[in-house]
Amino acid sequence: MKKFVVGITGASGFVYGRRLVEELSKSHFVHLIVSDAAYIVMEKEENIKKTEFLKSLNSNVEVISNKNIAASVSSGSYLTKTQGVIVAPCSMDTLAAVANGLSSNLIQRVCDVALKERKRLLLLIREMPFSLIHVENMKKVMLAGGIVAPASPGFYHKPKTVDDMINFVVGKVLDIFEVEHNLYKRWEG
Ligand SMILES: Cc1cc2nc3c(=O)[nH]c(=O)nc-3n(C[C@H](O)[C@H](O)[C@H](O)COP(=O)(O)O)c2cc1C
Repeated sequence: MKKFVVGITGASGFVYGRRLVEELSKSHFVHLIVSDAAYIVMEKEENIKKTEFLKSLNSNVEVISNKNIAASVSSGSYLTKTQGVIVAPCSMDTLAAVANGLSSNLIQRVCDVALKERKRLLLLIREMPFSLIHVENMKKVMLAGGIVAPASPGFYHKPKTVDDMINFVVGKVLDIFEVEHNLYKRWEG
């Protein structure tokens, strides 16, 4: 079973992280880290409590506290055995921390480790509009080998529901990590 590390931070779009974990954990193992701000956003956007969210996860998901900087995934020797790190959605706060090499919580630490170990790192950022500081932080992460992907759904697959739009974005993330899925219909020309 392949292992993935997923961080959910406090940018709008908690549902992207939730859908990603649902999809990955169908056939892969997920080490999941959720920031305090992400839980606040979750309650506001989805009207669900932390306990309900945690109960909804299947046994392929291990939830790790964002404060637990001694967790297995914070070590390069463990992280190299995983498929890499996905932060979805990724706040500008966490983007700034990663761009500047901070490791003040476990999400930041796994991103830092992924970059130093040359593991795949994808930040699914969500903000609008961007400041120059945001763009410079994105550039820094990209130059360090990370993938910065905006949570921006396409419309060429003719989405009919919000769910279709979420699935498109999450499907594109899974494509980058070479994970099989049927979340959106591929463009066939
Ligand atoms: C309802 C709500 C929506 C937010 N949306 C965004 C957003 O889209 N992008 C962003 O960068 N920050 C957003 N924030 C602010 C972050 O939650 C805040 O910067 C937080 O410190 C991020 O911390 P974290 O990266 O550790 O989760 C939002 C906050 C709230 C309460």
